Amino acid sequence: MKRGYTPAQIGLHWLIALMIPVQYLTGGSIERTHHAVHMGVTPSYWDVVQHLFHNFAGIAIGLLMGVRLVLRIMQPPRISPPNTWAARAATMLHHAFYAAIIGQACMGFVASYVWFGIAPYHVIGSRIILAMVALHFAAAAWHALVARNDTLDRMLLPRRKSAGNL
Ligand code: HEM
Ligand code: HEM
Repeated sequence: MKRGYTPAQIGLHWLIALMIPVQYLTGGSIERTHHAVHMGVTPSYWDVVQHLFHNFAGIAIGLLMGVRLVLRIMQPPRISPPNTWAARAATMLHHAFYAAIIGQACMGFVASYVWFGIAPYHVIGSRIILAMVALHFAAAAWHALVARNDTLDRMLLPRRKSAGNL
């Protein structure tokens, strides 16, 4: 039985964790670009670059999260079964991340290329994901600094193939 996460799962976790903040830094440029166009003004070059970056990075995040989901189904993490309310809540939050991030990327894609009417839900999605990340970060800090257990290590050190039990 192997313990924790594989190198690919860990690599994808941190890559996506780095890419998500970029979406918050670039998201505002889209409204500015659209506003300029509606006012008949040429949008700022930097806003257009950020808009494009937001779209392509967002599509990449959605695809990478999809790969992560497939990996998770094929190689479930070996961690103690959740038998406390906190562990169950953590597992629910982890599952919700997959749905929220893939859903967010799909809504952004639809807003950009199919139907802009969905954009308000994409904006609401961005607030929900922000709250989830804050909760997740606080929980990780609590595990590392207060409980001082190996939760953070699980996402830093790949699981060993020869480990005995859970
Ligand atoms: C998980 C990935 C994504 C995240 C976390 C994200 C996050 C955000 C954020 C924070 C905003 C600004 C919201 C505001 O005005 O307060 C935004 C706006 C927007 N994003 Fe994304 N986004 C993602 C993926 C995408 C993708 C893949 C596309 C298109 C291909 C996209 C298209 C848009 C559009 C069109 C807006 C403007 C919405 C509006 O102003 O009403 N996003 N996004
Ligand atoms: C946008 C940022 C982030 C997202 C979307 C995210 C998402 C996730 C997801 C979905 C899982 C569950 C993995 C699985 O079971 O398949 C997870 C686990 C984990 N994350 Fe994050 N994460 C983010 C940032 C962070 C940060 C900043 C930290 C640390 C400070 C962190 C620490 C951890 C740890 C320690 C685990 C393992 C929890 C366990 O095995 O019980 N994450 N993350």
